[in-house]
This record gives sequence, C-alpha cells and structure tokens, in this order.
Amino acid sequence: MPALPKSLTAAMADTVEQVEAAVDVLLPKADLREARLYEAMRYGCLGGGKRLRPFLVMEGARMFNVNPACALRTAAAVEFIHCYSLIHDDLPAMDDADLRRGRPTVHLQYDDATAILAGDALLTFAFEVLADPETHEDPQVRCRLVTGLAKAAGPRGMVGGQMLDLIAETEEFDIGAITRLQRMKTGELIAFSAMAGGILGRASPPQLHALQAYAHDLGLAFQIADDLLDVQGTEAETGKSVGRDEGANKATFVSILGVERARDQARRLADQAAAHLDIFENRAEMLRQVASYVVDRKA
Ligand code: IPE
Ligand code: IPE
Ligand code: MG
Ligand code: MG
Ligand code: MG
Repeated sequence: MPALPKSLTAAMADTVEQVEAAVDVLLPKADLREARLYEAMRYGCLGGGKRLRPFLVMEGARMFNVNPACALRTAAAVEFIHCYSLIHDDLPAMDDADLRRGRPTVHLQYDDATAILAGDALLTFAFEVLADPETHEDPQVRCRLVTGLAKAAGPRGMVGGQMLDLIAETEEFDIGAITRLQRMKTGELIAFSAMAGGILGRASPPQLHALQAYAHDLGLAFQIADDLLDVQGTEAETGKSVGRDEGANKATFVSILGVERARDQARRLADQAAAHLDIFENRAEMLRQVASYVVDRKA
C-alpha cells in the first residue's frame, strides 16, 4: 500500500484552516444596523471546533475528484448547521451550558435572543450557500444536497433527536431507543457529511450506500465517545461544559451500559464503520483512520 500523503492530524488541521477561511469569506463582518447578528454568527462559527463534519465532506469529495472549492462551500454549509445546533443546544432552555470551544457560549457572550437569532440565521444561510450555483453547476446535484441536508437536520434528523434527548431526561429509554435518538441527533448530520462528497462527485448508488453505512456507525461511535467525554473528560480538554448529562439525569449509552461497555461498543462500531469502506480500497484510508480517531479523541 502506498504511503499516505499526510497524517490524519495534518489533514484535519488543513481542513480547520480552510473552513476558518471559507466561513470568514461567506460570513463577512457587516457594517449594518443589525451587525450584532453577524457578530454572533461569526462568534459561533469561527475560532474552534474539530471541523469533523467538514473533514468528512472534503475527504469524500477528494475520493470522487470534486472541485475543492465546491466541496468547501458544502463543508461550510454543514458546519453552519452544526454551529447553529450547538448555539441552540447550549441555551438555558436546553443544556444551559457556559462553555463551548473554550469560550463563553453565544448566549452568555451576547444574550439569549441574539443566540436564538444567530442560530436561525446560520440554519437558513446554510441552504442559501448550498442552493447557489457556485456550489455545483448542476441544479439536480444542488437539489440533492439541499434535500439531504434538510432531512439530516430536521424533524427526522437532528432536531427530532434533540427532542428525544430532552424527553430522555424524564422518561425511560432502553438501548434501542437510545440508539435511535443518537442516530437522529448526531448520526444523520454526520451521515450527510460523509455522503456529500459522493453527491457532488455523482458517486454510484453502491458507493453512496457504503458511505452511508460507514457514517451511520461512525456517527453512533462519535456520540458514544461524546457521552463518555461528558463523564470522563475535563472542561480544559474538551473546551465545553461537562457532567451535564448526569446532572440532567439523561439516559445515554453510558448511563445504560456503564463506561467500559460503552467504550467497547464505540470501538466495535468504529471497526464496523471502517469495514464498510472496503469497496474503496486505499482511497478511503483517511476515512478509516477517522473511525479510530472519533473513539480515541479527548475533545
Ligand atoms: C459536539 O460536536 C456536539 C455533538 C453533536 C456531540 P463536536 O464534538 O463535533 O463539536 P466541535 O465542532 O468539535 O466543537
Ligand atoms: C448535542 O448533543 C448534539 C447536537 C445536535 C447539538 P450534546 O448536548 O451531547 O452536545 P455537547 O456535549 O453539548 O457538545
Ligand atoms: Mg444536548
Ligand atoms: Mg449539550
Ligand atoms: Mg454531550
């Protein structure tokens, strides 16, 4: 097997830099009366984050020889949705968190109403970016991206999962119900990210299916690792408030399985995720490495 051109760490660092620059261009400072909205949107999107979802978009796109500028716009759109979800997730009415990406959360830095509006604006702006011909010259491809992201982010995806997550604070959830919650809350957006490069590059149905299967297992492994970090991580390492799930009496994989079995389950899912990439042979080596990364990460 030929040597990898770059380590995963270096490749992810490249994506962090590219996304930062793309967001800065797509969301410039505004000299308008409502400038506070733009400032809060920039605060919520710039300066931090692993940019895992953009990395999946960029890596998938690379596998299908997609123009990197188109891939980067798609990656930024996914990150806008993700950042909006974090801003709203941290609100007092939800997780009531003080710290995000090593800084005060958006509602503490600004105020609740501005944080709600910044999230709303990022959500809608993401679709404006995807629907622009600069993202892809073929309107059918753009339409597939818009539909895919809408499904992943909406009631059958992230938002529906967030609703279940709140319900999991007061109602019993068994392992099947938690799995469904996590797949919706986190898995669907990760799955869209992994498939977006294939959509841009007009991958074949079996290729898209393999990416989807990979991402579904990856997303679940990722959320189990997140739940483990909430129990075992520190604010200094994760850059966000920890101990919130237990504090809210929330049912998670960790509360149901315990730390050891949850970690085993995450590892198993990561291995299973990587195995779905066999059809891509060496081309998917980075994505295989991402699977180990998501369970071993400290942030
Ligand atoms: C945190 O996501 C929220 C979840 C969906 C679990 P990330 O761990 O990807 O957060 P950032 O983007 O790196 O800050
Ligand atoms: C939030 O899950 C997932 C989203 C869709 C935003 P968490 O509430 O566990 O995320 P963190 O731990 O605050 O990042
Ligand atoms: Mg939450
Ligand atoms: Mg939270
Ligand atoms: Mg969490």
